[in-house]
Amino acid sequence: TSALAERAAVVLRDNDTGSLVTASPKLYPHMWSWDAAFIAIGLAQLDIGRAVAELDTLLAAQWSDGMIPHIVFTSATGYFPGPDRWGTDAAPQRPRHVRTSGICQPPVHAIAIRRIVDVARRTSRVDAALAEGFAARVWQRLYRWHRWIIRYRIVDASGLVAIVHGWESGMDNSPRWDEPYSRVVPGTNLPPYARLDVLRVDDPAERPSDDDYDRYLWLIEQLRGVNYEPEAVVNTSDFLVADTFATALFALASDVLAELGEELACDRDQVAELRQWAARARRAVALSCRPDTGMAADRDIRYGNWIATPTLAGFSPLLCGGAGDRAEAALLSTLDGPDWSGHPDLFAAVVPSVSPCARRFDQRRYWRGPQWPVLAWLFSWAFARRGWTAQAARLREQGLRLTADGSFGEYYEPFTGSPLGSTNQSWTAAVVLDWLA
Ligand code: DGY
Repeated sequence: TSALAERAAVVLRDNDTGSLVTASPKLYPHMWSWDAAFIAIGLAQLDIGRAVAELDTLLAAQWSDGMIPHIVFTSATGYFPGPDRWGTDAAPQRPRHVRTSGICQPPVHAIAIRRIVDVARRTSRVDAALAEGFAARVWQRLYRWHRWIIRYRIVDASGLVAIVHGWESGMDNSPRWDEPYSRVVPGTNLPPYARLDVLRVDDPAERPSDDDYDRYLWLIEQLRGVNYEPEAVVNTSDFLVADTFATALFALASDVLAELGEELACDRDQVAELRQWAARARRAVALSCRPDTGMAADRDIRYGNWIATPTLAGFSPLLCGGAGDRAEAALLSTLDGPDWSGHPDLFAAVVPSVSPCARRFDQRRYWRGPQWPVLAWLFSWAFARRGWTAQAARLREQGLRLTADGSFGEYYEPFTGSPLGSTNQSWTAAVVLDWLA
């Protein structure tokens, strides 16, 4: 156990450039928004000051309108699409000192700050003062980030948070997005490009397909075409989908931010606003649940239909609440049941990204089946917060089983437990550190 923690600490140290920990050594040599939040949670187990610095680096890249960009680029080359392809330099809202992408990722940052404060309070008075001082100092920035989502990304009657690129969901090639992507037709003027990601993994079948990539790159062209202006982006993108999982995280994080705001005596009106946003988002997630399965669904806003693919996003209401006790009990038993974590052939009983019983399940391909330790952590943290102690403890135990070999895979093959994608992935090391604390 302590040997595993040692190794996890080494991964974070090795991936540390000084001001940021890259998402992984080779495949992702930059800072990713939601990775950074989880990485900071792991860093808090080693050094509160370093955890705070990580989030400071991310927040310093916040756009002037409030958006936290999904990638903060380092000077490393070897990742595609890099800053030139994103072409955000001409966007007036972008930060001046650093180059970033022009889309966002799920708003998990308040959760990281909550965790850092909680860990610090248990460590020492000095650490507690450091973490609380940091939280108070950046609270406004987080509020503005959440306000950006409310202003620009609640765009249809579902009340769910909209995304304009699958990358914004964090679950890039999930079958959740198959249908909306099937309607994205790359233009003949898509500038040529060469993928680098497939060169950095053992087997290209662990990554999204080339067809996926054409669409990913085409959407970037569309975003560039309107210079990343947030209203224009929503009006023009061929991909516009209401994301129930992002909405659940927004609800949870807004509550957490409001709670921190109360503890730190931040602006009362803003705290009240956050509570309202959380309540609205929770309701939207509950309303997205399909009557037949009880699972939450996404909505294709451009085409006006629900997308009820059996992915782990279906369990969103368990993260944020609001669906009612009976609905939650049913969802929890689905989660533990044979189609999901209770599938008899699983190596470790943590929720796979797609049900092993689903037609589109693919056990090796990225978000189409493999298990992601970071999501097991997220569910276990949320469950603990909701008072579901036994479920939280089991997720932790099984998550540790999955990661016990010390390779810190980006994601894992659900039946064999072998690591896939990158190894020494920072967020995997980070959640293991938190689990072992
Ligand atoms: C990637 O390059 O695979 C990232 O997930 C995109 O953000």
